[in-house]
Amino acid sequence: MSQPSKAPWWRSAVIYQVYIRSFADGSGDGVGDIAGIRSRLPYLKSLGVDAIWINPWFKSPQADHGYDVSDYRAIDELFGTVAEAEQLVAEAHRHGIRVVPDIVPNHTSDQHAWFRAALAAGPGSPERERYIFRPGLGPDGTLPPNNWVSEFGGPAWTRLPDGDWYLHLFAPEQPDLDWNHPDVHAEFEDVLRFWFGRGVDGFRVDVAHGLVKAPGLPDLTPRPDPVPGEPRRHVDHPHWDRDEVHDIFRAWRKVADEFPGDRCFVAEAWADTPERLAAYVRADTLHTAFNFDFLTASWDAEELRTVVDDSLAMLGAVGAPATWVLSNHDVVRHPSRYGRRGAGHWAGARYAPDGPLDPALGIRRARAAALLSLALPGSVYVYQGEELGLPEVEDLPESVRQDPMWERTGHTDPGRDGCRVPLPWSGQRTPFGFSPDDATAEPWLPQPASWHELTVEAQTGDPASVLELYRAALRLRRAHPALGDGTLAWLDTPPGVLAFRRDPGFVCVVNLSAAPYPLPGDSRVLLGSAPVEDGVLGTDHAVWLEIQDVQPSTP
Ligand code: GLC
Repeated sequence: MSQPSKAPWWRSAVIYQVYIRSFADGSGDGVGDIAGIRSRLPYLKSLGVDAIWINPWFKSPQADHGYDVSDYRAIDELFGTVAEAEQLVAEAHRHGIRVVPDIVPNHTSDQHAWFRAALAAGPGSPERERYIFRPGLGPDGTLPPNNWVSEFGGPAWTRLPDGDWYLHLFAPEQPDLDWNHPDVHAEFEDVLRFWFGRGVDGFRVDVAHGLVKAPGLPDLTPRPDPVPGEPRRHVDHPHWDRDEVHDIFRAWRKVADEFPGDRCFVAEAWADTPERLAAYVRADTLHTAFNFDFLTASWDAEELRTVVDDSLAMLGAVGAPATWVLSNHDVVRHPSRYGRRGAGHWAGARYAPDGPLDPALGIRRARAAALLSLALPGSVYVYQGEELGLPEVEDLPESVRQDPMWERTGHTDPGRDGCRVPLPWSGQRTPFGFSPDDATAEPWLPQPASWHELTVEAQTGDPASVLELYRAALRLRRAHPALGDGTLAWLDTPPGVLAFRRDPGFVCVVNLSAAPYPLPGDSRVLLGSAPVEDGVLGTDHAVWLEIQDVQPSTP
């Protein structure tokens, strides 16, 4: 059953991810900004989302596009000012849209006042204790303190001219903080209060699983390969998902609870198992976490059903809602993942497309996946442009690539720029309404000329468009008492078909099999990812049904 309406909003919200650089450019410099977001609030309202998550907007040298923060209490001048951020929050609230910025606690920028002070103060100084500085190994200290590797490629350590090494799990411009230091706790709790006090409704917590490192910083040891068919196991890791990390978030929860309204946190936490993920979202820690198992699952009925069951069971056991995520700013957009037999999802693991892209197949599955994710119990993330069916831009010229991953992997991994291309809003040619007519610069990444077909303007009013599918689905989801938070019951179906009931009277069917699937006779189609002909659901199509009498299968 659905929760009573006073359940907190984040248990069932549709949260739209605004990758600020690429959403809308109000200033005309080719980079998205707060003015752009403000101008598009009516669009978001009419789309029907409940909240926006905004990728980091704080002052930053932009070495990793805002994930390198030099001042957490200032907005970067590329994006606007704190006053504009406050206006955005107030205006969004007037539209009934909540605002969730992104906080980056694992590392700062190397231009942050603390890191600059640490560099100036030299080896052994108290200033260095807020970060992870260590002497090197070997007779001259020329070897890094351990064998950890950066997520962006290369070693996780950089040596300074004074001989010390410092840890950066990401780029060298992103030194890791030492969360053993009390200043670090106090500073972040204060930053949370600063923004909660300005009205934000929550935070997305970047790299939540990375804050605590094992004492002594032991070397990485090879991880056992997962055994196909066997449940995944948690394997102890020196810097990911350490148990002590939850103490930090218990303190953060208390900060959130100091403020009125339902403030919330969503964790970016990559965990080995659903049980480990659930540990982030217990009643006294963070509220929700991204479901990366769903995002990384293949287009396979059995695999998806297992992810859904495990997620609902493990999160339900701690009283947390599930979340459903298909794409974000770090992964290959899902129409391009689903449009191939198999494709790397996470740019950090080297994007290795398997076979040629079939764009029509990708879109067919993406439309079906949208109806699946929006019908499942819990809350849903929509990555900007997903509602337009944007594909990954796989042919960006090398000269325009900006993701540090591209450089740090020696140009072996194209990185994440292909999912970050500025949105097409209107018109026939670039910038497609992304920037104003009198803009002084081109969009920061080039938009494919073919995107004139995918603009918001081109899709609006076209009943066959991806945009109108999302609009209809979000409208129904908001109105239907069975959708959002709650439970599901699977229905008996042949292999390759997923069907579940939600009360009252709602069924979602997704056909991932090669055979057409006849829909129950006593049902009425509420919405289909494609028109349903002769009561039969085609391959890679999904449908929402209103239904009277169906019995769930035994679990
Ligand atoms: C997270 C972000 C990613 C960023 C990294 C370092 O994974 O989603 O975009 O590069 O953290 O902050």
